Amino acid sequence: MVPSVCFIGLPGSGKSTIGRQLARNWGVEFVDSDLVLERRLGCSIKDYFAAHGEQAFRDAEAEVLADLARGQSACVLSTGGGAVLRAENRAVLHANTTVFYLQSSPEDIARRLRNDTSRPLLQGEDPLKRLRDLLVVRAPLYEETAHFVIDTVRCSTAQVVRKVTMQA
Ligand code: S3P
Repeated sequence: MVPSVCFIGLPGSGKSTIGRQLARNWGVEFVDSDLVLERRLGCSIKDYFAAHGEQAFRDAEAEVLADLARGQSACVLSTGGGAVLRAENRAVLHANTTVFYLQSSPEDIARRLRNDTSRPLLQGEDPLKRLRDLLVVRAPLYEETAHFVIDTVRCSTAQVVRKVTMQA
C-alpha cells in the first residue's frame, strides 16, 4: 500500500488549496475530510455544530479520519484544523500517512478569512485573537503529529507546493 499524504494546520492555512494542487500534480485523488464529514452528517459543519455541539462533531470527525487514513489507495488528504485535538486522530494520521503541518501566522490567516462565515470557531468579535488562542493550544499538537513542518508565512501557493514536493 502506498502511504497517503495528509495536511494539518489551522483553519485557513491552505490545506485544501495546497492539497488539491499536489494531488493534481501527482495524479492521485484529493480528499477533504470536512467535505466527507458533511456528506455523512447530511448538513454543513456549521449547522451540525449549532445543533449538536463541538463534542458530537469531534466524534464524527474521528470516525471519518480513521476511515480515510486507513484507506487502501493513496490520496492527498486535507483535514479540519481541529483534527489533532484527539490523541486517537494524531496517532492514526501519523501512523498511516505522511503528515505535513502547514505552519502559518494568525495574522496571515485572519486576513485571508476576513469575509468567511463558514467556520464556527472563528465567528465573533476578534477572530485574530481566537486564531492566536487556537495556535497556543494546537501548535504543539500539530508539531507532534507532523512528519514535516512547512513554513508558509508570506509564501505563495506555488512556493508552498514546491516546498512540500521537495520533502515528499
Ligand atoms: C475546525 C476547522 C474546520 C472544521 C471545523 C472545526 C477547527 O476545518 O473542521 O469548523 O476546529 O479548527 P478547516 O480547518 O478546514 O477550516
